Amino acid sequence: MPYDKSVLNTLPAKAEEIIASNTDRDTILLEICKLLRDTVPVYDWVGFYIADPETVRELYLGPYVGEATDHTRIPFGKGICGQVAESHKTFVVEDVHAQDNYLSCNIHVKSEIVVPILKNGDFVAQLDIDSNTLAAMDAHDQQVLEDICVKLSPLF
Ligand code: SME
Repeated sequence: MPYDKSVLNTLPAKAEEIIASNTDRDTILLEICKLLRDTVPVYDWVGFYIADPETVRELYLGPYVGEATDHTRIPFGKGICGQVAESHKTFVVEDVHAQDNYLSCNIHVKSEIVVPILKNGDFVAQLDIDSNTLAAMDAHDQQVLEDICVKLSPLF
């Protein structure tokens, strides 16, 4: 399902508006999830995983839109999300079934991108997007989503 990828370029300014007009972090994160899923036709599940300050090296599921997932807590190192929690680098997965360290959110998912959120160099959270389309995300998505994650960093 091809779509006009120029819509991606509208996202950072809209994210800034959401950040400027809300004070509660979870409200902002949920509104960002909705913005991304409503704007980009191939974004089927959009959510945030947050590094748990109480538990050593574990992520917990924050605000999200899309199907409920069993993966409400993910140890660092496990799955695509856990790998990004360790590498602090964006991971673009064209075909999730070609990955051996992968946690399935639901059977429809074919590709995924996970973008870390860093604060003062420390890993604090990540944006996770699943698509039911193969190779749905590329370097253009990565650049736009990394820009948004930099804008979200001060909330943590
Ligand atoms: N696919 C992720 C797990 C999170 S769910 O997709 C929402 C992973 O492999 O870490």
